[in-house]
Amino acid sequence: MQIFTTVAEFRAWRKTAGYLAFVPTMGNLHEGHISLCAAAKARGGKVAVSIFVNPLQFGQGEDYQSYPRTFEEDCAKLEAAGVDALFHPTVDQLYPRVEQQYKVEPPAIQDELCGHFRPGHFRGVATVVTKLFNIVQPDSAMFGKKDYQQLKVIEGMVADLDMPVEIVPVDTGRADDGLALSSRNGYLTAEERAEAPRLYRNLKKIADALAAGATDFVQLTQAARADLENHGWRVDYVEIRDQDRLEHARPGDKRMVVLAAARLGKPRLIDNLEIEL
Ligand code: PAJ
Repeated sequence: MQIFTTVAEFRAWRKTAGYLAFVPTMGNLHEGHISLCAAAKARGGKVAVSIFVNPLQFGQGEDYQSYPRTFEEDCAKLEAAGVDALFHPTVDQLYPRVEQQYKVEPPAIQDELCGHFRPGHFRGVATVVTKLFNIVQPDSAMFGKKDYQQLKVIEGMVADLDMPVEIVPVDTGRADDGLALSSRNGYLTAEERAEAPRLYRNLKKIADALAAGATDFVQLTQAARADLENHGWRVDYVEIRDQDRLEHARPGDKRMVVLAAARLGKPRLIDNLEIEL
């Protein structure tokens, strides 16, 4: 695996690469990230991964400084996954003009769900992903359904701005007990880790009820919220939305997604489950 820390070096390599599938990450890699690399590998060409903890998508008081940085371990995992190139720029490489920087502004979806609790987050994500696409110039890019709203923001951005890259959604990788894999799971104490699968269990319960014909969305989401709060969680939201535009689901909708975000101890955990009727 070749490692590049500057834009110029990466660009030079890219010219020789042919078909390129790309996996953008912030590092501290786990099996969820590696499944994205496998999906990229399955495209049949070369695979590039980026590791960059993007300051622009972290809010005041969030974990930008303490976000886990495990570069050596990450490299070993990417090597084992057969990744061809790793782009690992410094903040100065990507943001040399902090004061004057142009940004990519997502539409109203950026203020919903996670965006409501993390103002500016999706602007930061859309901006850095645009920059990475312009540097890496991939033919396809893999995004996890784990970050469902992020996936939708990127899909919308690529469509509206005619970016020449195919977005490939990848299913959420989970631990055996259902907990969605996340770099932030490392913040959980042993006791919290045992409690954490409750988030997924509540999503599953709602999905099962929807499959069985339930239509009282308020009752379903409030019951989940109450169960979590009774077990020490601080819930940001539990919502049922439509899969395509993330609008509030209505009885009769066929393609829905149940999304939740809640804090357990230090970390804020997010998860979601698609349901098709
Ligand atoms: P990060 O949280 O490192 O995630 C990188 C990619 O891995 C994202 O597409 C995310 O959805 C995916 N991913 C994370 N956990 C997953 C899981 N359990 N199963 C499947 N996929 C999973 O998301 C980001 O970084 C950043 O916002 C980024 C897109 C890199 C822009 O900075």
